[in-house]
Amino acid sequence: MAKLLQSLRGMNDILPPKTTQWRQLEAEFRTVLQQYGYEELRTPILETTELFKRTIGEVTDIVEKEMYTFMDRNGDSLSLRPEGTASVVRAGLEGNLFFGQIRRLWYMGPMFRHERPQSERYRQFHQVGVETFGMAGPEIDAELIVMCQRLWRRLGLANVRLQINSLGTATARQVYRTALVEYLGHHTANLDDDSRRRLVTNPLRILDSKDPGTQAIVAGAPRLSAYLDEEAVLHFEAFQRLLDDLNVPYEVNPRLVRGLDYYNKTVFEWVTDELGAQGTLCAGGRYDGLVGQLGGRDTPAVGFAVGLERVLALCIKQAKLRAVVPPLLYIAPVGLAATRTALRLAETLREQRPWTVLCDCAGGNFKSQLKRADKSNAAVALVLGEREVAESVVGVKLLRRGTPQRDVKLADLVSDLDQLEREGVFEVSDTGE
Ligand code: HAM
Repeated sequence: MAKLLQSLRGMNDILPPKTTQWRQLEAEFRTVLQQYGYEELRTPILETTELFKRTIGEVTDIVEKEMYTFMDRNGDSLSLRPEGTASVVRAGLEGNLFFGQIRRLWYMGPMFRHERPQSERYRQFHQVGVETFGMAGPEIDAELIVMCQRLWRRLGLANVRLQINSLGTATARQVYRTALVEYLGHHTANLDDDSRRRLVTNPLRILDSKDPGTQAIVAGAPRLSAYLDEEAVLHFEAFQRLLDDLNVPYEVNPRLVRGLDYYNKTVFEWVTDELGAQGTLCAGGRYDGLVGQLGGRDTPAVGFAVGLERVLALCIKQAKLRAVVPPLLYIAPVGLAATRTALRLAETLREQRPWTVLCDCAGGNFKSQLKRADKSNAAVALVLGEREVAESVVGVKLLRRGTPQRDVKLADLVSDLDQLEREGVFEVSDTGE
């Protein structure tokens, strides 16, 4: 037998019935995004490598070692997108979305990073991202946060905490960077290898290190907050006041620096302790310089991205997604005449009502067909045999109620089913996963 081929490591198929959960999750996101007036955009999955280098930063982990980069047939260097912000800014500039306009945009789709796969860390993962343009004040930062909170609430999620920080302007960060490098330079012997390398390339990321030895040194390091420019301080204070007004609890984490270079002022992460090491569900912040950096007019911007695999994992862990909506009606025909009637009957029902109608096309006797009907989670079986066809009736059997099957005239079937729907026969109870 031929060897079975497998999907790539860290890249997973999403198979039924899991796809139903994904759709439910995506639907919740769409509803909330629409409530806040967001417009969807879709960008290509492939972009020039240069786009990501110029936005995320040449010396970030993502660009240095995580991108799927290759030469295409024209000799151009292309990369699978590792995130969405860069593409949205490029697309917005190309499509003239920003000029003199306020924008609230969102996107959903796969992102690619060649990281070491582990629980809740994948090489292909999915994000819902939002990016806003043209709003410089802290109000939109706060609105983004409260929108996330609404999402967690709608999904019924508990134990999701908000961490915030301010990175100040690029100039203030440069001054801080010098002070930090000076301090850490005295402790290089005790830094982990990665941090020693970052001392030259991206020292702020050392604040984020998970290495206990490095963490101990970082505890005594100068604090970015002491170097923030006044404008950033006022912005951050006003942002916190707005979060207080909106009753959103938060924690200021001075070590929150983010792994992408484009941020300034507000940055934030929503985290949970329930998913092990990969507990960041959502992350984002302000990137006022990026549009200008890519050749547009200076345009303030702020956004975030949610990791859908992680949110789904938490929903499942906390048993918060409603049960799969089953096919409601199952037509079970036995015999040639009944089979021919069945397909037509299914079409008539679908034409007249929005119900899901599954018509058994696998044959066999009533017993085996009703077994399949039970398995499909249908609420009602419509039984058709030679007798039913001859008498123009259908046997109606309520699968979850155990009541005896009864004949209903074909002509009365829709109104009979309408009555059953009113009685709640089609409803599905909440059963978690
Ligand atoms: P990020 O922090 O790189 O930010 O990713 C955002 C979220 O994507 C993470 O918090 C996590 O939930 C999810 N994520 C990232 N990598 C993986 C992975 N390998 N496996 C599973 N989930 C993952 C950004 O991407 C920025 N573009 C966010 C942003 C938008 N900032 C401003 N606007």
